[in-house]
Amino acid sequence: MAIKEIKTTPFKDQKPGTSGLRKKVKVFQQPHYLENFIQAIFNAIGGASGKTFVIGGDGRFYNSRAIQTIIKMASANGASALYIGQNGILSTPAASCIIRKHKLSGGIILSASHNPGGPDGDFGVKFNIENGGPAPEQVTERIFEEACKIERYLISDAPDLDLTVQGETVVEQTKVEIIDPVSDYADLMESIFDFNAIRSLFSKGFRMKYDAMNAVTGPYAKEILVKRLGAPESCLMHAEPLEDFGGFHPDPNLKYAKELVQELFSDNGPDFGAASDGDGDRNMILGRNFFVTPSDSLAVLASNAQFVPEYKKGLAGIARSMPTSRAADKVAEHLGISCYETPTGWKFFGNLLDAGRITLCGEESFGTGSDHIREKDGLWAVLFWLNLLAATGKSVEKIVRDHWHKYGRHFYSRHDYEALDPDIAKKLMDDLRAKLPTLKNTTVSGLQVRHADDFSYVDPIDGHVSKHQGIRIFFENEARLVFRLSGTGTVGATLRVYIEHYEPDHSKHDMPVQKALEPLIKAADIIAEIKKRTGRYQPDLIT
Ligand code: G1P
Ligand code: ZN
Repeated sequence: MAIKEIKTTPFKDQKPGTSGLRKKVKVFQQPHYLENFIQAIFNAIGGASGKTFVIGGDGRFYNSRAIQTIIKMASANGASALYIGQNGILSTPAASCIIRKHKLSGGIILSASHNPGGPDGDFGVKFNIENGGPAPEQVTERIFEEACKIERYLISDAPDLDLTVQGETVVEQTKVEIIDPVSDYADLMESIFDFNAIRSLFSKGFRMKYDAMNAVTGPYAKEILVKRLGAPESCLMHAEPLEDFGGFHPDPNLKYAKELVQELFSDNGPDFGAASDGDGDRNMILGRNFFVTPSDSLAVLASNAQFVPEYKKGLAGIARSMPTSRAADKVAEHLGISCYETPTGWKFFGNLLDAGRITLCGEESFGTGSDHIREKDGLWAVLFWLNLLAATGKSVEKIVRDHWHKYGRHFYSRHDYEALDPDIAKKLMDDLRAKLPTLKNTTVSGLQVRHADDFSYVDPIDGHVSKHQGIRIFFENEARLVFRLSGTGTVGATLRVYIEHYEPDHSKHDMPVQKALEPLIKAADIIAEIKKRTGRYQPDLIT
């Protein structure tokens, strides 16, 4: 074995986005592309020497290839130990759990989350720090700086490892252990929730469907739901991780988890349905004939946290990303705890969780989590709901309706316009920003604007300032529009419009969501000129 120093030149497009570096597989397959980025990570953290990392991914195409390269590079850079998920598999929440449990220096997660996979799909690399969470902006900015000036990287010429067998070996001076990707995570879940109550729910014939979308959570769901909780194996759908996700778009929402949705909305459907995304950090929750919006889910979990053993002692606080509906704020107010509003992306929750300011946090984009790790956690959310269903004996629909009755309902939807010409999308946002000072007190589509701004966040723990995190337009009656461009897409630009309207009157809670939001949807188009500028008459995706 020998360590080789390879000369290279920078790629200018290696700026991490909302969640790591995401590109088409073909971009990552270019010579030196992955290597440059990995070396940039090591350079940005003062070298890998003496450090310990977990490495794994969502099993998508190029996952194993990338892991072999990273093992050789981490060894050549002097890492003292590497923990690799067997078969290269590690869900994002499991990776976070392992970093924390084994007190590692960090982790490299190979995933493009909910983006499609396969040779023509997407790939991604995300670096997590020692608290188990995504690298904060200061670190991702340093990684980008390093990537922009890289001249060389180190790599061992050691042969590929067999990732299919658990066990320990040594590469250069580095101890490399292939580990069971599931057990640490499953143990953590068992320590949080009332598994006895959930087991007894299943033993009474409670029916559930869980869709792993041919992505990473299949083995986790099998161990936890079937083996430890006694659910029948037939409750699992698409539970084998596949390199191309079987052609699925592994994003758990009403559009892409179609089969699951059909089952839950059929006659005599199951009591409970759930799905998770490519890397296992997102969740969708369904009841029989009932969809729970992720924003509502966060609020419901917060309001019922006392039913879960781990959270019985009370919540320190709640945080939600800015575009997420303000349903959780009402619960925080009721509980007399703080509710923090952060920019989009899980990395902004890390400091608040580390400082003990918050216990639960979530995003409208099907992400929910707590201080048990530093990532959002799909199966955790599913287990939380199962725990609530077991403890209350209520249906999903009843729990949510009771919640609306108590706190009022936040009608909420996100409209995505995908693959836009980046120049047109940028101009739309720039012009909207320029218009902000003139909007106050104007009436648009019958709604009066109370306040409009460009969201800027000052981290309450380290004072770091993040600007331009989305344009917010507040109307009377707690209605709100938010506009921002996606930071995770790989094709053109995606405009996200977040639409929210608060309805305290429960006689109006049955209105169809898009109908309740109609005046706001019209206002969004008038203010941002979406149709005129993009030529799009409908969003590509409504969630
Ligand atoms: C999207 C979501 C965001 C989430 C991220 C990673 O980012 O909107 O909430 O944290 O994926 O899962 P975006 O594409 O909007 O930048
Ligand atoms: Zn994900």
